Formats: sequence, C-alpha cells, structure tokens
Amino acid sequence: MAEELIIPDGSKEDKYSLLYKQIESLTAAESDSIANMANIAAMIQETFHFWWTGFYRVVGEQLILGPFQGPLACSRIAYGRGVCGTAWKEHCTQVVPDVDKFPGHIACSSLSRSEIVVPVFDDGGTVIAVLDIDSEHLATFDERDKEWLEKIVSLLKL
Ligand code: SME
Repeated sequence: MAEELIIPDGSKEDKYSLLYKQIESLTAAESDSIANMANIAAMIQETFHFWWTGFYRVVGEQLILGPFQGPLACSRIAYGRGVCGTAWKEHCTQVVPDVDKFPGHIACSSLSRSEIVVPVFDDGGTVIAVLDIDSEHLATFDERDKEWLEKIVSLLKL
C-alpha cells in the first residue's frame, strides 16, 4: 500500500495516469465522499503543486467550501457566479487560461492567474460539487487536464 503513494517524476500524462490509479483504489476502499474529496485534493496537490486545489459542495442555492489544499478561500459562491458557479450552472468543465478575461471571476487570491473547474455529478446527472484548481501561472490547464480530472471526479461515489 505504502509504495502505491510514491509519485515518480514524469510527464503530465504519466502523473495523471498514476494519480488516477491511486484515486481509483482509494475511492474503492472508502465510501465517505468528504474523506475522498479531502484525499483527492491532497493527492492532486502532492502530484502537481498547484496554487489551490479543492472542492465546493452544492448546498441549496450555493456552493459551500469543502476539502481543499492551499490558502484561505471564499466560503460560499452563488449559483452561476464566478468560474465555479458557471461550471455548476452550465454542467460542464470550465478551462480558464486567464482569469482576468473571465467575466465575473471571483478572486479569492490575486495570485491566481488561470484555473479549471470540473463539475461532479451524481448518478442522476445532478451537479453535487465542483473541483476547482487554481494556478499562479497563465494557461496552466488544457484538454488533457480536463479529460483526466473529469475521469478522476467520476470516481467519487455520492
Ligand atoms: N476562482 C473561483 C473562486 C474560488 S477560489 O478561486 C478558490 C471562481 O471564480 O469561481
């Protein structure tokens, strides 16, 4: 078990591939979604060292901050607001190469320059959370991040 947690250097593809396998065994062994969100955020951070990685959960008409790694963040985000609220409203991943060019972006940190927000769906196709990853560099995320992160959040059983 311990050796499964060793993250070797390698390409983004290799890192995601290993990360996916680790998260697959982690989520198969644990049914609590908050515990899984916490470990998924930690494992993504350990692998890529982004500025901020975390989850917001849908609670009523708002997103409420869930497990995360990184600096202090906004606690609540309204439906349709910012990148997270837009991913929730539009039911699709938002890849934002420059947050200053995203209308209504919520700046929890002025150091965040680009981000990706991936909706998490339940079995009925309802958005029940979003995975938000922020980078202090422009254009950090691309189609490969989108595909892998969508695969990763689909492992969450909610
Ligand atoms: N960037 C997000 C807000 C959350 S923080 O960045 C952690 C947004 O605009 O939705």
